[in-house]
Formats: sequence, C-alpha cells, structure tokens
Amino acid sequence: VTTRLTVSAASGPYDVVIGTGLLSSAAELCSQAVLGRHALIVADEQVATTHARVVLQSLEQAQWSVEMTTMVACESHKRMSTVESIWQAALAHRMDRHSVMIAVGGGIIGDVAGFAGASFLRGIDVIQIPTTLLAMADASVGGKTGVNVPLPGGDRVGKNLAGAFWPPKLVLADPATLATLPPRDLVCGLAECIKHGVLSDPKLLELIQNDAQALIQAEAQAIDRVLAHAVAVKIGVVASDEREDGTRMLLNLGHTFAHVIEPVASLDLRHGEAVAIGLMAAFHCSVQLGLVQDSYATRVQSLLESVSLPVHLSKAVSVDQLMDSMQFDKKVANGVVRLVLPTTSGALIRDDVSDDVVRSAWASVLPPIC
Ligand SMILES: NC(=O)c1ccc[n+]([C@@H]2O[C@H](COP(=O)([O-])OP(=O)(O)OC[C@H]3O[C@@H](n4cnc5c(N)ncnc54)[C@H](O)[C@@H]3O)[C@@H](O)[C@H]2O)c1
Repeated sequence: VTTRLTVSAASGPYDVVIGTGLLSSAAELCSQAVLGRHALIVADEQVATTHARVVLQSLEQAQWSVEMTTMVACESHKRMSTVESIWQAALAHRMDRHSVMIAVGGGIIGDVAGFAGASFLRGIDVIQIPTTLLAMADASVGGKTGVNVPLPGGDRVGKNLAGAFWPPKLVLADPATLATLPPRDLVCGLAECIKHGVLSDPKLLELIQNDAQALIQAEAQAIDRVLAHAVAVKIGVVASDEREDGTRMLLNLGHTFAHVIEPVASLDLRHGEAVAIGLMAAFHCSVQLGLVQDSYATRVQSLLESVSLPVHLSKAVSVDQLMDSMQFDKKVANGVVRLVLPTTSGALIRDDVSDDVVRSAWASVLPPIC
C-alpha cells in the first residue's frame, strides 16, 4: 500500500510518498518530482552499502548521472565543515543549478544535506529519503534544514542555530528500511509520534498505546498506521505556517527542554530520548499552570515508558546550569524563554512562565531518588 500526501509550500507543492519496498522505484518517483538528472546522494555511512545503494542503482538504471558521498550521523558532525565537504563533493561531481541533492539517512543527514542543497549555488533541488522513523514522521517533512553551532566560550553546541527553510521536491519514505534500524533509534521516532499525537491527534496516541509492543518490534502494519497519522499531523501544521512564524512553533513541544539536555555528553541522550524527557518537563509546567490535569501527564508518561523511552535524566545535573543553557535557545526573545506547553486539546506558546515553574520542571525530570 502506498500513501501519497501532498504538502503545500510557497515554492510549490511536494509529495510525501510512503510505501514498503518503494526504494527500488526511487528513479521513477524522483524523475517525476524534479527536472534534473544529475545528482549527489548524501548518504548516512550506516546505510551507504544497503539502502542508499538501492537508490543509486535505481537512478543509474534510469540514466541519471549520480555520485554518492557519505557522512557520519552524529550531532558532532552536524556542523558547517560537513556542509563544506558536501559542497566540495558537489563541485567534484560538476553539479550545477539544475542538479539535485538527495539525502538518504536519518534526520541528521536530512538536515545537513538539506542545508548543503539549500545553499549550494544559492539553492538546488533537494529530495529527502528518510531511513529512520523520526526522519520519516517528522524531520524530512517541512523544509527545515540546518546545522549546530558551537556556543561562545564553552564546549557546548547550540542545536540547529544556523540553517534555512528549503522545502524538498519529494519525500520518499520506505518503512522497509527500518528493519535495519537499531531498536533504540526506532523508539526515538516514537517520541516525535507521541508529540504529534499530543499536538492534534488523540487517535494517534490510542494507536501507539494499543500497538506498543508491535511498534517496538518494527512490525510493518503497526508502523505504517502510525506513520500515516504522524506525517499527516506534521503536514497540517507545516501547511498552516511554513516559516515558523506562529503555529509551527507548536512542533517544538518539549524541544526547548530537549535542546538543552541533548548536547550534554554525559547524559548520552539521542534526540528522541531528549524529546521524551522534554515532553515530560513541558507537561510538568502545564500541570503547574493548570493547563492540563495531572492524569493526562501521567497517561503520556506511561505511554512513553511503554515504548521504552526515558522520562527522567539518567544522571543528576545542576538545575542552574540547565536554566543557563536555556538562554541560548533560539526561541529566546528579549531574554524571555518561549515555551510550548501541552493543553487538553493541543498546545500553546507561553513566554511568561516564571523561572520557578521552569526550575521545578527541570527538577521533575532529574533522576528519581530511590
Ligand atoms: N528538520 C526538522 O524539522 C527536524 C525535526 C526533528 C528532528 N530533526 C533533527 O533530526 C536529527 C535526529 O534524527 P534521527 O533520529 O533520524 O537521527 P540520526 O540521523 O542520527 O539517525 C539515528 C541513527 O540511526 C542510524 N541509521 C539511520 N537509518 C538507519 C537504517 N535504516 N538502518 C540502520 N541504521 C540507521 C544512523 O546512522 C544513526 O546512528 C536531529 O539532529 C534533529 O535535530 C530535524
């Protein structure tokens, strides 16, 4: 079964095509989406000889001129020097303004290759071929691309502080690629799916609740169902606010907290895990402010736990330091931290949450005292 959803973007609509086994038809789908037949595949080195190779062979058989370059998918490689090496590979392959940048990998590859495509020769066509659940459900759709930037005077980096809005011409998601994804990364994708459910799709929360075990085991039918719902939520939000001037900020639910803890090496958190903990911190604020009942927060906590996502930090961290790091978040306006907080029917943006409430939210996700 192939699901085709269309995203409206100022630069023109594009399709998100989801279907098991679609990778081997990559050439057909790509040829429909773009005019160029000259492409650079930027592949996650983990999938270079498997999924990316299938894409490469499909394109070569259709007479595309295509080269592949690889990158390591880790946050420390999500930086400008990696973008430069992609530009160099594009120049070596004699890419021009009609060439196509194709990202094959998870959200890190999609963000970096997407930004390299957005900036090479002031912007060329980009195709996203996500191979993680997180990238399929969230990162590949909507056109946000970018890299991390080292923060002044320290060893920390600010997440996604430089980038561009650059919608792809096609998103091709083949859930069969998830068969090789380590369970920890699969589960990370479920964190964003749960976030999407909280934002606007109670049915999605129900699906995840009922199918928790099947989802952890990457069972195709369960994944397909969740993916169709989660992508639809993302498309709905992105369509209403492409450049994140308003409602799209709601997608940052849990992320203001997540972006603070994700770069702390000693916590060893993947993005999805940081989002799960960030989601609980945001729920804690909402409970404090009377926006949701405690029972809703508890239900979401159980849902996260049922798919093996963390809801607390694994080590104690100074709350002062966490509060300080929050100031660097790009959503800080005039020194005020803007938070996305869950409500009973979605989420809202607040920039008037007191430091005391934020501190107590951080305290609530510290390791429980035994
Ligand atoms: N642009 C957006 O709108 C947006 C939204 C959400 C997240 N993001 C970004 O996405 C990133 C996280 O994405 P992610 O969770 O996909 O991480 P990722 O790209 O690091 O992939 C996770 C791991 O899975 C491996 N991998 C990928 N596909 C595989 C496969 N099919 N089989 C085996 N291994 C595979 C990777 O090598 C990596 O080790 C973060 O940098 C985050 O900021 C962007």
